[in-house]
Amino acid sequence: MTASSPGLVVLISGGGTNLQAIIDAIACKRLQANLVAVISNRPEAFGLQRAIDAGAEAVCIDHRHYADRQTFDLALAERIKSYSPALVILAGFMRILTPDFVRQFEGKLLNIHPSLLPKYAGLHTHRRALEAGDSVHGATVHFVTEELDGGPGIVQAQVPILPDDTEASLARRVLEVEHQIYPAAIQWCLDGDVLLRQGIGICHNKPLARSGILWPATPATLP
Ligand code: GRF
Repeated sequence: MTASSPGLVVLISGGGTNLQAIIDAIACKRLQANLVAVISNRPEAFGLQRAIDAGAEAVCIDHRHYADRQTFDLALAERIKSYSPALVILAGFMRILTPDFVRQFEGKLLNIHPSLLPKYAGLHTHRRALEAGDSVHGATVHFVTEELDGGPGIVQAQVPILPDDTEASLARRVLEVEHQIYPAAIQWCLDGDVLLRQGIGICHNKPLARSGILWPATPATLP
């Protein structure tokens, strides 16, 4: 990581294992970026400690101190803009963002969701996949648009669901692939290999499938 690498601001609410995967990818130069700041809406989020350990600025903007979603999002947006990041990375950030917020960062705002979107937008994705009797599950990195978990996919990774899986065992298997695909997707966006154009995900000037690139394919290996 060098100060001249493109800056990332990561938003979290909890443990931050995806944040750690990003920190590790930067440390081993798989991701050419500079982690400028980590912002949590919860003071107790362990990810803030991960940020401090990585030498990044750790910031808490506690949503409970704001009268409503609009004023919280305004404060959050102002703080993010003060860092002029190349990308804003949602990594377990458990707040729904207002359309005004999303519009300001359009094309620069990424999220990771623990399901094969468009399946299972929202919460309890592992439980829902188990209850549906699915044989595969996974995770998706996508551009954030005004529709909750509905923006164009960048990359999607599948994992098998095994007969004796519990929510916890399945969540662990999905997290393992999350930690691979998120740093990769960030690098593709920083390189301009994948971008959002008029609401559509584009890779090397061609529209991407709605769910994004199916991992382990990459922009370089796509036909
Ligand atoms: C991950 O499962 C991610 O897909 C979802 O929230 C969880 C965050 O986990 N958006 P962590 O805080 O990165 O460990």
